[in-house]
Amino acid sequence: MTERVILDCDPGHDDALAMILAAGDPRIDLVAITTCAGNQTVEKVTRNALAVCAVAGIDVPVAAGAAAPLVRPQMVAPDIHGESGLDGPVLPAPAREPEACHAVDLIIDIVMAGEPGTINLVPTGPLTNIALAMSKEPRIIERVKRVVLMGGSAGRGNRTPAAEFNIVADPEAAQAVFAGAWPVTMVGLNLTHQATADADVIARIAAIGSPLSEFVVEILGFFAKTYREHQGFDAPPVHDLCTVAKLADPAVFTTRDAFVAVELAGRWTTGMTVTDFGDAYGEEHNTQVATELDKPRLWDMTVDAIAALSGSRS
Ligand code: RIB
Ligand code: CA
Repeated sequence: MTERVILDCDPGHDDALAMILAAGDPRIDLVAITTCAGNQTVEKVTRNALAVCAVAGIDVPVAAGAAAPLVRPQMVAPDIHGESGLDGPVLPAPAREPEACHAVDLIIDIVMAGEPGTINLVPTGPLTNIALAMSKEPRIIERVKRVVLMGGSAGRGNRTPAAEFNIVADPEAAQAVFAGAWPVTMVGLNLTHQATADADVIARIAAIGSPLSEFVVEILGFFAKTYREHQGFDAPPVHDLCTVAKLADPAVFTTRDAFVAVELAGRWTTGMTVTDFGDAYGEEHNTQVATELDKPRLWDMTVDAIAALSGSRS
């Protein structure tokens, strides 16, 4: 059985890999792509999403979404993703126009049109679109199969010592998502920092020898440079890829149930995903928290997806 996915993203180098896995793995049915301001402005990340679709031959609706967080000023991440949001490769011209509708309306329409429990939401940027959709049409909460989000951490953050970028970029939206009465899997930095694209992985991708594989190698090359310079990593952690991988193959990482809430009022800790695997607060465990990655399994399926799309592109 394939897992139907709406990918809500802010491409973003690692978002691009998530798009490619979602399109290239036969266990995933990529229904639509929606974009949200995050790594860069919504205009830039939407253009980037369309460019990745063009180079990978991904032919699904792409709808632009929120241009700013719910209440706080926008933050972007040019230090990691560059001024374009997808620096590194030359980006091809889009092969299709974005949808005329807003991302939030596309999410609502798809979820409400589908059978209950058949659509997974996979946010890999700030959670603004997801929170807006919950507010505009609360019935989606009982109809969505699962929310598998890249964000937060059961450990340290990366934007501040306490907070990860996707969450702290719109903490009010994130808190709404974690507080919703739907199944949530948190794929946080404690997991995604295990998902590094090491030299052997780059070599396997390069050996595919297609325009798409060359594009991916260039993406990962830029990502490796910024992660080395700004975060001290020998190889870049491809965060967003891990969300789609979990839906393709649940064995790709383990999870532990926990209570997760987003700090909204901490002087130093705003945006922290406070993660309680025990019962410190007497709160129900509302989240599956990703813990241990099977890294070879992740990269095997990713290389296969790139090869599959390359084959379809030859
Ligand atoms: O903190 C990592 C997350 O922030 C990833 O989703 C990356 O693309 C950026 O959005
Ligand atoms: Ca992202």
